[in-house]
Amino acid sequence: MTLAGRSLISLEDFSTEEIISILDLAEEMAEALGWEDAEQRQAAKPLDCILATLFFEPSTRTRVSFEAAMLRLGGGVITMADPKASSAAKGESLADAARIVGGYCDIIAIRHPQPGTAQIAVDNASVPVINAGDGHNQHPTQALTDLFCLRRHKDSLTGLKVGLCGDLKYGRTVHSLAPVLARLGCELVFISPDMLAMPPEIVESIGQTSDQTPQQTDDLAAAITDLDMLYMTRIQKERFADAAEYEHCKGIYVVDKATLRGAPEEMLIMHPLPRVGEISPEIDDDPRAVYFQQAAGGVPVRMALIALLLGLMPEAAAPKSGLAEPA
Ligand code: CP
Repeated sequence: MTLAGRSLISLEDFSTEEIISILDLAEEMAEALGWEDAEQRQAAKPLDCILATLFFEPSTRTRVSFEAAMLRLGGGVITMADPKASSAAKGESLADAARIVGGYCDIIAIRHPQPGTAQIAVDNASVPVINAGDGHNQHPTQALTDLFCLRRHKDSLTGLKVGLCGDLKYGRTVHSLAPVLARLGCELVFISPDMLAMPPEIVESIGQTSDQTPQQTDDLAAAITDLDMLYMTRIQKERFADAAEYEHCKGIYVVDKATLRGAPEEMLIMHPLPRVGEISPEIDDDPRAVYFQQAAGGVPVRMALIALLLGLMPEAAAPKSGLAEPA
């Protein structure tokens, strides 16, 4: 099945083969971007396509890397990054906004604080829609970016032992990442206090697709000893109904030099960012700390996704160099 013309709400929408094809094309995009050697950078040919970024919630990495990706593909970008400056402030519905903006562009990336809003955009826009984060629900392009980074460092995505640590209840990145890691054959360890545990529906979906029951613990020091990758997350202050609950949880996990004394030499440390204290800057120079490389991968990954959803690339055989001519 082709990815052209489709939307992305959750990675459950895509087969494992389709996910791997996006990562493979992202490697080609990274090469075209001159990641390893800037002198090899290939200029994109002008592309008569427009991406609209509709962000009803703050973002640095996701919005900017989506826009950089479209510009690197040669296309154009229109953006709505401040809901107070849009007609949402006058009470316009998301359904109407998606319908209207879909008429101005070829593809939409949307972020919204309410779960399910990306689906509303899909139901009303006439162009493909990419979920750039809907509340605590899903953040599928972050998961693709995470997989891209993990595969680059570990060669294979199968058979790895991955610890997901922090706010597993409200953290949408882990809701997208955990099921796809399980599908790819990774062993999962969920590290959180009970009040921030992974939602039961995510645990159930993992059991259904992988016959795996992830280990659950609140003990980071014990869990870290045999991981291939530790994925830290921020405690999502903005999603707590009770400020006292957040105060109780904040700062519960901090990865610093002392923490890493118990970790394997080859264990990667990843984080979707932003961080607010759960990773000490004192470990930024540790070769295991790859979170800044992880964020950089958001550009080629989103280039690949946009190109495939717009039908710009032959899917089974991505070109070995350069970007294809627009279809
Ligand atoms: N990882 C991530 O979603 O970052 P932003 O909120 O800055 O987009």
